[in-house]
Amino acid sequence: MCGIVGIVGSEPVAGRLVDALKRLEYRGYDSAGVATLEHGAISRRRAEGKLGNLAQKLAFEPLEGRIGIGHTRWATHGAPTERNAHPHATDRVAIVHNGIIENFRDLLADLAKDGYLPQTQTDTESVALWVTRELARGADPELAVARTLKQLKGAFALAFLFRDHDGLLIAARHGAPLAIGYGTTEMYLGSDAMALAPFTSRLTYLEDGDWAVITRDGVTIRDGRDAIVQREQQVSQASALLVDKGNHRHFMAKEIYEQPETISHTLSHYVDMGAERVAIREALPFDFAELTRLTMSACGTAYYAGAVAKYWFERYARLPVDIDVASEFRYREPPLAPGGLSLFISQSGETADTLAALRYCAGQGQHVASLVNTLESTIARESGVVFPILCGPEIGVASTKALTAQLTALASLAIAAGRARGALSEEQEAELVRELVRLPTAVSQALGTEAQIMDIAKRLSKAKDVLYLGRGPMYPIALEGALKLKEISYIHAEGYAAGELKHGPIALVDEDMPVIVIAPSDELVDKTLSNMQEVAARGGNIILITDKKGAETVGQDVADIILIPEVSSFVAPILATIPVQLLAYHTAVFMGTDVDQPRNLAKSVTVE
Ligand code: F6R
Repeated sequence: MCGIVGIVGSEPVAGRLVDALKRLEYRGYDSAGVATLEHGAISRRRAEGKLGNLAQKLAFEPLEGRIGIGHTRWATHGAPTERNAHPHATDRVAIVHNGIIENFRDLLADLAKDGYLPQTQTDTESVALWVTRELARGADPELAVARTLKQLKGAFALAFLFRDHDGLLIAARHGAPLAIGYGTTEMYLGSDAMALAPFTSRLTYLEDGDWAVITRDGVTIRDGRDAIVQREQQVSQASALLVDKGNHRHFMAKEIYEQPETISHTLSHYVDMGAERVAIREALPFDFAELTRLTMSACGTAYYAGAVAKYWFERYARLPVDIDVASEFRYREPPLAPGGLSLFISQSGETADTLAALRYCAGQGQHVASLVNTLESTIARESGVVFPILCGPEIGVASTKALTAQLTALASLAIAAGRARGALSEEQEAELVRELVRLPTAVSQALGTEAQIMDIAKRLSKAKDVLYLGRGPMYPIALEGALKLKEISYIHAEGYAAGELKHGPIALVDEDMPVIVIAPSDELVDKTLSNMQEVAARGGNIILITDKKGAETVGQDVADIILIPEVSSFVAPILATIPVQLLAYHTAVFMGTDVDQPRNLAKSVTVE
């Protein structure tokens, strides 16, 4: 993870490096730092914690250099202290790094023989030391970097600043994203287009193995064999405006409340509301009718979107689906039927494991499709077809509106597949589309449960452990509920398939453990409610999320019932997501945690 940025500037760069880092904080916020050249020496300012600490430090100890690099860190090797913060530097070179140098121990062992000893616990410092040794042996910066890159194993994006070269940055990409930006009298580099949006919209994305020599006059790009290559220059659509919280206390609250609108927006891309049919705009290099299997892979919340969609594709399109978390999928080497379809779901489009799973499938001759929010991301660029989710930038680290937009798009794709495969009639398609179109209104109504949820959340904030139960497509929503609560409130939570309860976890149930049962009135509601009775019989403290019809069938055993509007079982998983998000959000607010930037996490997980 981590975000990196660099400017070969014509005016002082430190302030602008910090502005760009602000836009990269979603990649990590354990520490931050910048380095510039001043009076022929490398000067650094680094600070533990959020970027604000670095900005404060710079206010007291400003940097004047016109060339520099910056970094915001998600710690992998070494505690998030100031000493371990990037840029890492020797007297000759400073570097920033996103990714992991897997063989850093071997590199350090070799360097130690010549007296080059690390001052930090990071993997990154091995690169700074290696380049320094090459420079000391007489190599110029380009040769020093070229030789060093050949030593490195792992996935990384790197930027180098050299003490003796006041107009030169070198950047390298191997498995982690990096863009070069073109100004009129300046040049830039950054982890993504967002970081560079205030400076320029003209960009070149480096390809894996590329490294770039950047001066004020332009850039020369070489590939992994050091041959000069031309890479396309594109105009980025990334906005220079930083999104604000509006009237909300947190981005997460704002994003939860945006969902009626974001779902509508996604729907308007996939659905012809007048004709009551799904209209896929993307040119499909495959035919749903001919597929024998759909393979899906993703991480975290995006994986749960796929897990819900499995029910839809199997039920409404009669299309068998395999789904696995990308970190497992990528190493399983699953056999894939020739010409099959692989679909990858990722809000950021940069998740390292999802990207690796995608590359595996592309290598196996699969049609590769992705469902992403960031259309300029690596996953989008490497996909044969990109399905957008169009929910706007998601800033809160905990994913909310991206999930409901992913589900909305996946529901539309399942209908399209169902029609193409003859599993759905025209009338059935029209009925399902009508249900999707009613969804934004139902979501608005479900947001009306907030006052009751705040009350429940106050009690939930005292719990040590929480269990979430769901059946069928509500099972992934139970997993999502548990994930959301864990990540922002730090309360331990587990999601379980309701039917699995009696196979073990029921032993945990006592009057101190809240059990959140997600059971709107679908075909399986009676089954889930009898699992709920098993909890009630053991004194469990139940919070039931259901609709009016579901609530009528339960007795007095339930302490709290959160009522959501009655909708069809098709769209119910999307709707049930809303109270689950609000519960986690308000519990975290009661606990006083950093809701938008919870500890140890980052928005974009670019390391495996
Ligand atoms: C949880 C959350 C994460 C992400 C996961 C995948 O709230 O946000 O679990 O869903 O890291 O990220 P993307 O979708 O960017 O691939």
